[in-house]
Amino acid sequence: MTVGVVIVAAGRGDRMGTSVPKQLLDLGGRPLLQHSVRLFDRHPAVSELVVVLPSDRLADAAKLVGPTMRSCRVVGGGVRRQDSVVAGAGALSDRVDVVLIHDAARPFADDQVIERVLAGVAARGAAVPAVSARDTVKQRDAASGCVSRTLSRDDIWLAQTPQGFRRDVLAAAFAEGERGGEATDEAMLAERAGLPVAIVEGDARNVKITTPDDLAAARSRLAPAPRVGTGYDLHRLADGRPLVLAGVVVSPDRGPVGHSDGDVVCHAIVDALFGAAAAGDIGRHFPDTDPTWKGAPGVDLLGRAVAIVAAAGFRPATVDCTVVLERPKLAPHVDAIRERLAAALGVDASAVGLKAKTNEGVDAVGRGEAVAAYAVAVIVAGSVS
Ligand code: CTP
Ligand code: MG
Repeated sequence: MTVGVVIVAAGRGDRMGTSVPKQLLDLGGRPLLQHSVRLFDRHPAVSELVVVLPSDRLADAAKLVGPTMRSCRVVGGGVRRQDSVVAGAGALSDRVDVVLIHDAARPFADDQVIERVLAGVAARGAAVPAVSARDTVKQRDAASGCVSRTLSRDDIWLAQTPQGFRRDVLAAAFAEGERGGEATDEAMLAERAGLPVAIVEGDARNVKITTPDDLAAARSRLAPAPRVGTGYDLHRLADGRPLVLAGVVVSPDRGPVGHSDGDVVCHAIVDALFGAAAAGDIGRHFPDTDPTWKGAPGVDLLGRAVAIVAAAGFRPATVDCTVVLERPKLAPHVDAIRERLAAALGVDASAVGLKAKTNEGVDAVGRGEAVAAYAVAVIVAGSVS
């Protein structure tokens, strides 16, 4: 069998309500219709590909359709979906004996659905993928607005695309359409022509993007997963110097010794950010052999770390930190520190957690000889707002 595919992308998307038709809007970095183009372009059973675009968008076809491996014809659509399908099918060569018709508005079809439809066409001449109704289905009486009857859920199947037709079956469906039949899909016309249409298993994920909510859900499905990193820091403490955490003076007269300002909170969070982005660590970006960083305030390093992580394509989402400090009590300063951290991170203070613990007198931290901090950072794709 020689399979030709028609992807219909010539609708106006009235229910989406955007000025640009929904199938041309961005989904995961490319026009929505390109997800379907790629799927069929790569499928080994497909020989020919036709994309039907709104007639006034044909000039942008190359950009909208994107690169394809096989040759792909582009034609202008019609007023109704069925007119667009007729236009697309007319651009297939005579070699094609099985036609798959797919809504560009369904970006999540997959190879398995295609294969089930092709098997259905081979067996019965026409096939639609469908999913069984999950909810109880009511028929409404338009005049009263009340339920007129409850349909048997077992017999209700919700049709998807791609729908497949032997070419002679599609010709009969088109002839039915020419006799004046209006239809939301070609299977409906084939049924009216008295031809069998097999129902094969669809896929609940193969949704049609119809409303803004559908588009938002599709975008979040494609959004990359958040990434998590951990960080840890410890500094020895000595008398006669201040302990400053994120620019807030926690103790005026007992603070960290060493090359840096000893801000364990900022340093632990910096490492957590770098860890989440797999972008090295604090020592690599701010080496203690470089005088630039001698005594550099922790919040400054944090701001720079945010910029480095942003250059890698991420922004902080949430951060949490535990400080282990014998004395003084951190509680009076917690909110001020969170505010400073939030400003450096470019997030709301509600996205910054900060807790304090003592080490119960155990070890060097418990003896008050050092302060330590543990941090976790969650980052997501995108730039800082
Ligand atoms: N379609 C088409 N030509 C038309 C109408 C629809 O090619 N004249 C395409 C759409 O672009 C979509 C598919 O048919 O890929 C399914 O139609 P639907 O989801 O109803 O899209 P629209 O008609 O664009 O949306 P709406 O009904 O909300 O206006
Ligand atoms: Mg429509």
